[in-house]
Amino acid sequence: MPNAVAVKTKSSSMRLLQVLGGEALSPPPVWLMRQAGRYLPEYRVVREKAGGFLDLCYTPELAAEVTLQPIRRFGFDAAILFSDILVVPDALGQSVAFLEGEGPRLDPISSGRDLARLDPAQTRTKFARVFETVQRVRQTLPREVALIGFCGAPWTVATYMVAGEGSSDQSAARLMAYRDRAGFSKLIDILVETSIAYLDGQVRAGADALQIFDTWAGMLPDEEFEAWVVAPTKRIVAELKRRHPAVPIIGFPRGAAANATHYLQATRIDGLGCDTTVPLTQMRKLSESGVAVQGNLDPLLLVAGGPALQHRVRETLQAMPGVRFIFNLGHGIVPETPPEHVAQLVDLVRSAKHGG
Ligand code: CP3
Repeated sequence: MPNAVAVKTKSSSMRLLQVLGGEALSPPPVWLMRQAGRYLPEYRVVREKAGGFLDLCYTPELAAEVTLQPIRRFGFDAAILFSDILVVPDALGQSVAFLEGEGPRLDPISSGRDLARLDPAQTRTKFARVFETVQRVRQTLPREVALIGFCGAPWTVATYMVAGEGSSDQSAARLMAYRDRAGFSKLIDILVETSIAYLDGQVRAGADALQIFDTWAGMLPDEEFEAWVVAPTKRIVAELKRRHPAVPIIGFPRGAAANATHYLQATRIDGLGCDTTVPLTQMRKLSESGVAVQGNLDPLLLVAGGPALQHRVRETLQAMPGVRFIFNLGHGIVPETPPEHVAQLVDLVRSAKHGG
C-alpha cells in the first residue's frame, strides 16, 4: 500500500500537500532547502540585528521575518521554519555556539556518563520560542503556501553532539557507537523522544508538513544504518503519524541512495528528499514505491546560473511527467548564490511545459 494513502490532502489549496498526499502536479511545487539565509541581503540585515545565530532562532519576531523573506521575494510553494537542527542539543542543555565562518561548536559528549548533562524537561522554554515562530508565520503566510517544520534526524544530530563540531566522516559518533553501544543507544533514545516533542509542538503551532534532515546518513555499514538511521526515524514517524495522521513527513537521508527503498518502506515517510547524486531515473523508480520524491538540483548550478542551470532544470522536469515530484535542491543553497538565479529558477520551473 502506498504510504500516501494515509495522508489526506489537508487543504486542496496547498500544492505541496497535494503532491505529498498522492497527486502529480505540473508544474511541480517548488521550495529550496536553506531558502532563508546569507545569500539574501535582507537576511543579513536581520541577522546583524539579532546578534548571535541562536538568538535569531529564539526570537520569534525575527525568525518569523526571515522565514517569510524568501516567500515574499520568490513566491515559493512552501516556507520552511527558520531554525536549526542544533536547537535540539542546545535546548537539552549541551552548550552550542556558532562561530563566524567556522560552523557550530558544541561541548562534546564522549561517553554515556556525559548524557547526565542532557535534560529533556528543560527543553520547554526554548522550544516554546520556536513554536511561537511557527504560529506567527502560519498567521502571516498566504493560505496556499505550506509551512514546513523540521528537525535533524537523531543520527545526524548525534554526530555533532559527539564530535563537538561538523566532520566529514562522522568518525567520533561512529566510534562511540562501536565502543559504547549502550551509551550511544541512550543518546539516540533521548534524541528520538525530544524530536517527537519538538515536531509535535511545531504541528500544534501550525506546521503543515515536516521534514527530517539526515545529512550524514550516507556513511554507515548496513547494520549501523538500520540501528541509527532507519529505526529512530521509524519511531519518530510512527509517533507523529499516531498523533497527527494528516500531516505528511519528508525524510532526507542524504548520501544513502543505495538504501533508499528500504529506508522509505521501513520508515513509512510520505516524501523522499533526494540528494544531487540520485539519478533522475532512480527518483522516478523510487516514486513508484508510493512516495513523493523531492530534489535534487545541484546547489552549485544555482551559483553558476545561465545555460547550465536552464539545461538541468529542463532535463529534470522532462524526466518527471506523472511523477509525484517536488522541485528542490539536492542540498542547501550556498551563501554565494546570486538571488537573481533563484528567481530565474522559479520562473523556469513555473513556465516549463512538461507532459503529465
Ligand atoms: O532551510 C531553511 O531555510 C531553514 C533554516 C535551516 C538552517 N539550517 C538555517 C541555518 C535549516 C533547515 C537548517 C538545517 C541544518 N542545520 C542542517 C541539515 C541540512 C543541511 O544543510 O545539511 C545541518 C547539518 C545544520 C547544522 C548547521 N547550521 C551548520 C553545519 C551550520 C554552519 C554552516 C553554515 O552554513 O554556516 C549552520 C548554521 C546555519 N543554519 C545558518 C543558517 C541560515 C548560517 C548561520 C548564519 O546565518 O550565520
